[in-house]
Amino acid sequence: MTPDARREVLASADPSGVGVDGPTAEPDGVRPVDPVAAPAEEMEEAGLRPRSLAEFVGQGQLTEHLQIVIEAALKRGQPVDHLLFAGPPGLGKTSLAGIVAAEMGVGLRITAGPVLVRAGDLAALLTDLQEGDVLFIDEIHRLPRSVEEILYPAMEDFKLDILIGKGPTARSIRLDLPRFTLVGATTRTGLVAGPLRDRFGFVGRLDHYDVEELQSIVTRSAGILGVPITIEGARRIAERSRGTPRIANRLLRRVRDFVEVRADGSITSEAAVAGLDVFGVDELGLDKVDRSILDVLCRRFAGRPVGLTTLAQCIGEEPDTIEDAYEPYLLQQGLLQRTTRGRVAAPRAWAHLGLAPVESTLL
Ligand SMILES: Nc1ncnc2c1ncn2[C@@H]1O[C@H](COP(=O)(O)OP(=O)(O)O)[C@@H](O)[C@H]1O
Ligand SMILES: [Mg+2]
Repeated sequence: MTPDARREVLASADPSGVGVDGPTAEPDGVRPVDPVAAPAEEMEEAGLRPRSLAEFVGQGQLTEHLQIVIEAALKRGQPVDHLLFAGPPGLGKTSLAGIVAAEMGVGLRITAGPVLVRAGDLAALLTDLQEGDVLFIDEIHRLPRSVEEILYPAMEDFKLDILIGKGPTARSIRLDLPRFTLVGATTRTGLVAGPLRDRFGFVGRLDHYDVEELQSIVTRSAGILGVPITIEGARRIAERSRGTPRIANRLLRRVRDFVEVRADGSITSEAAVAGLDVFGVDELGLDKVDRSILDVLCRRFAGRPVGLTTLAQCIGEEPDTIEDAYEPYLLQQGLLQRTTRGRVAAPRAWAHLGLAPVESTLL
């Protein structure tokens, strides 16, 4: 079925019956879904995104596997199998989705789990795809169950089941979808339902980057932004980027601001350190929120285990944000420990804050 024919069938379907929502469907049927709205900082970041596997720094094993999967699909003249990328924020999941589409020479549609509220939202996106397109669903672990269910036949058989009519005369028809590649991204694989995870042909985990990799990302970004930078300057920024390219790019922009206002506009080692100090990023790359997490654990609770919700309340962040964005790095750096009774500051955290650990609470 051509996209036009599919659209016609959808348009002729009883509006309240589109998708599998049944009686709770929106009265106006298929709602157009906007791609994820991009805030200003994201827009600037878009220019720094790697566009091909060759430009993508690091994640050697993952990119090697992807290279093979993509080349094989191109050889067979078929779309790439569905891919799931998992890992903390800012490590390149969205970039990889774009790269897969670019390397395959196909279109890219972007949406996100929380945006797809009704089955009809996803149905509208699916029926609008062109043959071979990549559909990227960010935060796929946050898809509502009803939406997830129409994804299963779509992923497996490229079919969409829709309900036409109401009550006793209602009938279900199966529409053919174009063959497409679903690329899902999640910050936590544990939250992706088993049946959904099983339908991906490939699951790639992204790990934190090492300083050398981040240094080359900073150098590349500085080139794109047209900021003069020394090797050592790039290294200082890389060292404080918590293993995360998005943070490396963000720190680079702040240091660029700093050297434009307070120095001669070029980023040397000294200028980078001075700039990072001004913006409250310490030598471990910890920012204010990281330090207040450690401060709550060490000072406020004197080393006793603290539950995630309590910790989140103390520092005024969402528990999810702490778990997804802050905790992985603190754990990796040996600053924080997770115990069955809660989060505990590790000895290194006390040292980092310049405190003597409270003896009785070390375990
Ligand atoms: N491997 C990489 N090489 C170069 N830049 C990268 C890499 N991974 C991420 N980036 C940079 O970091 C930013 C955030 O990456 P993104 O793909 O949005 O991460 P995620 O989707 O995992 O949160 C991108 O805009 C890009 O500039
Ligand atoms: Mg992303």
